[in-house]
Amino acid sequence: MNLETVSMALGDAAADLIVLPELPFTGYSFRDRNELLSLSDDPKSSSIVEKLAELCAECGFKIVTGFAERAGEKCYNSALLVGPNGVESRYRKLHLFDREKDLFDPGDLHLEVIEAGEMRIGMMICFDWVFPEVTRTLALRGADIICHPANLVLSYCQRTMLSRCTENLLFAVTANRIGEEDRTGTALAFTGRSQVVAPGGDILISSGINEQELAVAVIDPSIARNKMMTSRNHILLDRRPDFYDR
Ligand code: ACM
Repeated sequence: MNLETVSMALGDAAADLIVLPELPFTGYSFRDRNELLSLSDDPKSSSIVEKLAELCAECGFKIVTGFAERAGEKCYNSALLVGPNGVESRYRKLHLFDREKDLFDPGDLHLEVIEAGEMRIGMMICFDWVFPEVTRTLALRGADIICHPANLVLSYCQRTMLSRCTENLLFAVTANRIGEEDRTGTALAFTGRSQVVAPGGDILISSGINEQELAVAVIDPSIARNKMMTSRNHILLDRRPDFYDR
């Protein structure tokens, strides 16, 4: 059903890059691992990925989407960068949140930055926001834009991302879920307020708490390549990693 909603919403979107929330095609509150396994998919043979790739070919954008990724006996809470020819990059959530630890396998891939047209894209998923190492690693690898599919249930992330974008001088797109889900008897309420944040922490877009929305921000990704916070302070080169060990 969400695939139909996404296809309808994106059909006339004028954008280069689309970011969807975490796990948009399966829901989030799985009853158990067996249910998750039954809903997960290998991206190589997924009809959802095929449809998203078709949309990319028709509309000229790329899509970052959350995805329940099946890999043999393993299942990851993943983000995929999809282009007209299918999956171009994949990230498997490194920091599993709460009950996710009983359901998913922890991510086992290194953080990577991929070029998409003029943009250098890094991906992280929801609870990764609480680990500044993730955005910092992506910044060190040259990311201009962090694509951040989310199903946030805590209230801190949106404001924390302003700091992540300030300390790393890059853009972040947090695409968050709205509404509630109660498949397990414990209702989860998602916090909405998807946002696009600029280097320095300015909020370019902040969506509603409960409205489904397609919002478009116009940005110049190359702004994120200037890491000078003052004329004498380069935020990456001024680091003192020799003193950061325990
Ligand atoms: C979360 O990481 N989905 C809260």
